[in-house]
Amino acid sequence: CGIAGYIGPGDAGSIVHQGLQNLEYRGYDSVGIALASDDVTVSKTEGEVNELTVPQTENPSTGIGHTRWSTHGEPTTKNAHPHTDCTGDVAVVHNGIIENYDDLKSELRESHIFESDTDTEVIPHLIETHLADDVSLLTAVQRTTQELEGSYAIAVTAAGHDGVVVVREDSPLLLGHSDDATYIGSDATAFIEHTDRVTYLESGDLAHLTDDDVTIYNDGEEVERDTETLDWDADAAGKGGYDHYMLKEIHEQPPALRQAISGRINELATSVDLDVDLPEAYLQSVEEIQIIACGTSYHAGLYAAELLEEHADVRVSVEIASEYTFNGGRDPWRTLVLAITQSGETADTLSALREAKRSGARTLALTNTLGSTVTREADDTVFIRAGPEIGVAATKTFVSQVATVTLLTVYLGQVRDSISTENASELLSSVRDLPGAVQQVLDQEQAIKETAQAYADSDSFFYIGRDAGHPVALESALKLKEISYDHAEGFPAGELKHGPLALVTPNTPVIALLTEQTRPEKTLNNVKEVKSRGAPVIGVSSDPATTSHVDTTFDIPQCGPMEPVVANVALQLFAYYIANEKDRSIDKPRNLAKSVTVE
Ligand code: G6P
Repeated sequence: CGIAGYIGPGDAGSIVHQGLQNLEYRGYDSVGIALASDDVTVSKTEGEVNELTVPQTENPSTGIGHTRWSTHGEPTTKNAHPHTDCTGDVAVVHNGIIENYDDLKSELRESHIFESDTDTEVIPHLIETHLADDVSLLTAVQRTTQELEGSYAIAVTAAGHDGVVVVREDSPLLLGHSDDATYIGSDATAFIEHTDRVTYLESGDLAHLTDDDVTIYNDGEEVERDTETLDWDADAAGKGGYDHYMLKEIHEQPPALRQAISGRINELATSVDLDVDLPEAYLQSVEEIQIIACGTSYHAGLYAAELLEEHADVRVSVEIASEYTFNGGRDPWRTLVLAITQSGETADTLSALREAKRSGARTLALTNTLGSTVTREADDTVFIRAGPEIGVAATKTFVSQVATVTLLTVYLGQVRDSISTENASELLSSVRDLPGAVQQVLDQEQAIKETAQAYADSDSFFYIGRDAGHPVALESALKLKEISYDHAEGFPAGELKHGPLALVTPNTPVIALLTEQTRPEKTLNNVKEVKSRGAPVIGVSSDPATTSHVDTTFDIPQCGPMEPVVANVALQLFAYYIANEKDRSIDKPRNLAKSVTVE
């Protein structure tokens, strides 16, 4: 989601509206603006920023706005931000997740009327409660934040109160300064055409913005924050300063993963809360899970199958959606069909889902997109919460799909009494470690870039892996072929000698997934087979003992069952820098589309 805000002598409505237009790449399913003078006037709508009518207010002193990518509640007008309290005098825009909103809402419900299904709406009601004690807006917001758990960036404006109050807790928020005005943005794109002088708020900062002053507090104390000058142009800013959306999205994977797992793991109980509505008795009776998906989502499905078969005591098949025919035996409803689709709109996947439903199967969707067709047609949905992905080549949605399906595995394993506490705990700690491990790989970007440049002249690449290393080999090869237009293929490592080995020459680099728990010792035998045919080998591994067997190693941190996902991130960067070296159209590869809505 994106936040924009303004306080100054200019036309707050049109400045905030332009800021939201700049931020539209962060989410675009609903949008809204609040302007404050003596009153607060709110305008919001389902749809894109250019469909919003800017509220008409005489001389508004402040404006805040939001363009939304739904995580809690459908993308409708009532769920769009800004949200207000019962009086309509307090307006709030918010990015992030309020993890304890259910508890807060139950307490507030006795005396407050809720209009939306969002977690955000608890915030204006809490502020309203504190303002009733006749305190300043700043104090009311400060008291409110003490009650919130989760990650958030918030901007608040209120009738009869001076200025805007903003808070940053993990989710990004910065201020822009011109000579006579202050701007608010979830990134600098929100105001880049007005100023390049910015202050990055730190986590825990609370700032009070008035016409002529900005005061920042942290932990109750006034603090100073540096003002920096950006050297971005507006175009680069749209991509967060990266050359391509794909690179930006690769770098967004740690926060995307944190968002995917946020509030879903119960540490004390070693259990998972995924809001699955399918009855437990039904899930216990399921005899087979059929996974249907396309492209990258199919690879996430293959990864899911490895986990589900091992821990959920269930037969699992994974099928490319366009090849799917339902076969559910005498009790079709004992087959659960899991449709994995980041967009929720892929025609092949929807068509397979419909066939399964017609035949009597129950269906569950795993998607990134609230309100998408799959969420309306499947019996139940689990969201991967990766945020909008613009680059055609899927990156952060793949890792978020795998992380979420791992949580689903633990959930099903516990419902079906088939997973030991030890295994559940290993899977959950591996998922918890994933954002940090991915960050460690991102920190090695320069070394991976140099390796990619060294191999960029090859025009055929093979990827090999076993167990969960196999889907990652397929996914990494797909990434390279999509954006570099080089020939790239993934194989189960053991299958290489049954055919593909005929293609291996000194000009065909082989990338070997030598990750923990994927039988690296056996894959090393296949490494020897290709090396003896002269092929250069890149190993991806957390085990230093493997380095002497390969020509180059991408060192990755140990991460248990999620280690192949960590390896995938190194190979996303490898693919990106090969394509970049060849000056390809990385965000929009030729002939491909982000969401394919034809069969
Ligand atoms: C297209 C995209 C791929 C994506 C596939 C499935 O082919 O280019 O990146 O993996 O569709 O998309 P879905 O939205 O169903 O996950």
